[in-house]
Amino acid sequence: MRIAVSTGGGDAPGLNAVIRAAVLSAVNRGWEVLGVKRGFAGLLGEDEVIHLTRESVRGIAHLGGTILRSTNRGNPFCYPVKQPDGSFVEVDRSDELIENARQLGIEAMISMGGDGSLAIAKRLWEKGVKIVCVPKTIDNDVACTVTTFGFDTAVNTAIDAIDKLHTTAESHDRVLVMEVMGRDAGFIALHSGVASSADVILIPEIPYDISKVCEKISSRDRMGRMFSIVVVAEGAHSRGGTVQTIGPSLPGQAKRIGGIAYVIAREIQDITGKETRSLVLGHLQRGGSPTGYDRLLATRFGGAAIRAIAEGKWGQMVALQSPNIVTVPIEQVLRSPKRVEPDHDTVQTARALGISFGD
Ligand code: F6P
Repeated sequence: MRIAVSTGGGDAPGLNAVIRAAVLSAVNRGWEVLGVKRGFAGLLGEDEVIHLTRESVRGIAHLGGTILRSTNRGNPFCYPVKQPDGSFVEVDRSDELIENARQLGIEAMISMGGDGSLAIAKRLWEKGVKIVCVPKTIDNDVACTVTTFGFDTAVNTAIDAIDKLHTTAESHDRVLVMEVMGRDAGFIALHSGVASSADVILIPEIPYDISKVCEKISSRDRMGRMFSIVVVAEGAHSRGGTVQTIGPSLPGQAKRIGGIAYVIAREIQDITGKETRSLVLGHLQRGGSPTGYDRLLATRFGGAAIRAIAEGKWGQMVALQSPNIVTVPIEQVLRSPKRVEPDHDTVQTARALGISFGD
């Protein structure tokens, strides 16, 4: 058996642990493993395809990033191809990818990625590619799995930052607004905000009203708590407002979300008169060593992906449905994206503790 593995989309801590677990599990069955570099670029002649052996994956489980590299501009169904005049045209290169995989003797593939990579995998599966997926994203917005690996590490990085903001905010009687990632899902903001005692948490699933945010800050002042911490998800928006985006994206890339922290900080300072500062935690959330939780989950996913291939579970994604790892058809996963339920118990508890969602 010869299989290939690839990592696509934004990286997430734990990818190397999945690669290691998949390679060791496969090699121990006597299978051969190829690593496709930079998403599917390696199968389109735009990067390499390498042999992955026991030696290639030695000592990588604790490392962030991915030894296979990644891209969020490599959808083979609309691949950005540069034209002689410098412009880009999106071309369907999926047949070329499938033919190159066939020529390399690849019998099955493991694709690690978020919703974008899952959608690509579904289309490849529909074209006959034997594929199994592993859910990866710090955003935790993939359905049918309790969590994705990378999320716990991102939340811990955010918690560490909020803990640090508390001390400086308190020293200066300031409001500090911190923006975290998550695209259209508020999981990172909700989990890190609740775990680190933020005063206000703003998420895309609960549109905010800036006057409510300011009311909360002023009420803290009246109680003698002269500082406040606001954690805002990058995709949060006011009631009736729109999501903030950053500049133009590169060809083949989704729109870049961000910048809401600055907008909110300015509004808070204007309305309350309190000194307000903002920061964007950014890609720190994607870097560094995976937490123990993510390392174990990633390792379990890698092992389960190889069992799924052995059992011929094509077009399926491995998923955590505690306490077990199961497989779910990709089609089912893509039916609706996972979002924070506005009446989830974590939100209810946060409200009971006095945390404002600005609504
Ligand atoms: O999907 C993961 C993620 O980190 C999002 O939270 C964020 O919006 C996006 O990727 C950032 O992408 P890029 O690395 O292209 O800036």
